[in-house]
Amino acid sequence: MERIYFDNAATTPLDKEVADAMYQVMIHEFGNPSSTHTEGRNVRTIIEECRRSIAKLINCSPGEVFFTSGGTEADNMAIRKTVETYDIKNIITSEIEHHAVLHTIEELTKNGDVKLHFVKLTSNGHVNYDDLELILQNNPNALVSLMHANNEIGNLLDAELVGNLCEKYQAFFHSDTVQTIGHYPIDVQKLKVHFIACAAHKFHGPKGVGFIYISSNAKIHPFVTGGAQERNMRGGTENLYGIVGLTKAIENAYANLEKEMTHISSLKNYMIEQLKSNINGIIFNGDAEGNSLYTVLNASFPPSSIGEMLLFKLDIAGVSVSGGSACSSGSEVGSHVLSALKTDRNRAAVRFSFAKQNTKSEVDKVLAILVEMLNKSK
Ligand SMILES: Cc1ncc(COP(=O)(O)O)c(C=O)c1O
Repeated sequence: MERIYFDNAATTPLDKEVADAMYQVMIHEFGNPSSTHTEGRNVRTIIEECRRSIAKLINCSPGEVFFTSGGTEADNMAIRKTVETYDIKNIITSEIEHHAVLHTIEELTKNGDVKLHFVKLTSNGHVNYDDLELILQNNPNALVSLMHANNEIGNLLDAELVGNLCEKYQAFFHSDTVQTIGHYPIDVQKLKVHFIACAAHKFHGPKGVGFIYISSNAKIHPFVTGGAQERNMRGGTENLYGIVGLTKAIENAYANLEKEMTHISSLKNYMIEQLKSNINGIIFNGDAEGNSLYTVLNASFPPSSIGEMLLFKLDIAGVSVSGGSACSSGSEVGSHVLSALKTDRNRAAVRFSFAKQNTKSEVDKVLAILVEMLNKSK
């Protein structure tokens, strides 16, 4: 049975071209980039070329790009080190951030020295920008951490607006861009961000590598001590193969951006249309048909006897998706995002997330499987 993979917001398949680029350095380069001899210098040159290429794509200087193990580390670095370096007393975020942000902030604010402010959300999960401004007005010099696109429901942030507000109230602005890098043009000058986070595996690169952009206006303390790597910010011998893979993947993503955007958006729109016309009572979570990431579609199915078994049954039928419904109070299992949006707990929610390898015929097959399952459960 050929499987259908609609869980690309969790991770994407590695591109062959990316794997080839990694393999070439694996077999031809082994030097330690900190060594001063030829082997070391060759590897240093490769890493610095990668940094330059990434910097060009997001419009910053190479000295503002720091390689990390991925999105979680970048989020931790931005938040923890800004709070520490600048003695931040107020952090503003939302209840629907990724746990890499949310759990980090909760830990930093749990003893009350740093205050946590949750910005209000609109009924479909967008940030209430008036409320954000109000909180900023009352708490200048804060740290704002708001994700560029929500990984569960796809809602997009008006990051330029948030950047301007942060500038007005002298706040630091961190945006988790893990779901948007490689999928939208990102210009850090336009967004006026101090930090963004990237994970290569979200755009057909390898897992365990990414980067953080740190604006030269934010001089935060080192995150990992013990080595002078990454301009003293993250000690430890660099992940050469990962960095090469990340760079190849991001270069490919931006070289083919328009074509892939058009293709993937059309799949999402087709899935919305088909779900609406074939499944009575389907609801889309977030702002699926509005200001939303074109790779993600989150749908709540009408209550049925399948309930939470839907994901499991889809897996057995050869379809990989993710989801979950709103958590019941005190439960760790459901989705904190859907809980914050107060979606109906009796409806199973499914996140379909698409990438360039997906096809319209896969959407048709998934639809047919869903319709059959739901009909049987009536
Ligand atoms: C929005 C968001 N932030 C952070 C992460 C974590 O990234 P990584 O898996 O590279 O640590 C993810 C990935 O699941 C994500 O979707």
